[in-house]
Amino acid sequence: MAKQKPLVIRAERALAQRLDKAGYKHSLGVATMAQTLATIYGQDPQDAFLAGMLHDWDRCRTSKQLLADAEKHGIKITKVYQERPRLLHAKTGAISVAKKFPEIKPEILSAIEKHTVGAVPMSDLDKVIFISDSIEPGRNFRRINDLRRKAGVVDLNTLFRLCYRQSLYELVIDNKAMHPTTLKVWNWIILEDQRDDTQHEV
Ligand SMILES: [Fe+2]
Ligand SMILES: [Fe+2]
Repeated sequence: MAKQKPLVIRAERALAQRLDKAGYKHSLGVATMAQTLATIYGQDPQDAFLAGMLHDWDRCRTSKQLLADAEKHGIKITKVYQERPRLLHAKTGAISVAKKFPEIKPEILSAIEKHTVGAVPMSDLDKVIFISDSIEPGRNFRRINDLRRKAGVVDLNTLFRLCYRQSLYELVIDNKAMHPTTLKVWNWIILEDQRDDTQHEV
């Protein structure tokens, strides 16, 4: 029997078939950024690359499909999900990736699941993927260059806080509904996760 190709090769091929060109390019941008940040911040670069590559696995699903998937998997369809079904792609994507690649590590699935609104708590790898999704080279939003300049300069928690804060800002400016977990994550960052940090950049 022919030897199976390494997971990263199989995942990349499957992703190229699954996503459109822009989604594929974004995913590779996140993977490369995550690999670099993982090396800087003491995480496994291979895990980070794979998590970055697969984080948007379900981004190609329509809102209708995502709502149906969520219902099938027993994910509670809250009012915010009804209003912003695309948010579901992180949770449904993690479930779908686990099914497609059963050998994948739970740490990678966790990072995929938490890349949109986050969670309490989050691991360092979860944070690396969240940050990489925010600032990969293809992204463009207000103050992104300030965030990029801080990557690798400030500690991981500070960089995560700055990226999360920016995502909150974007939500408010764009008049989007906020997932209740977002508030929990923000309070966790401020009140618990970064309680002992002395570095508070603005
Ligand atoms: Fe995403
Ligand atoms: Fe993404």
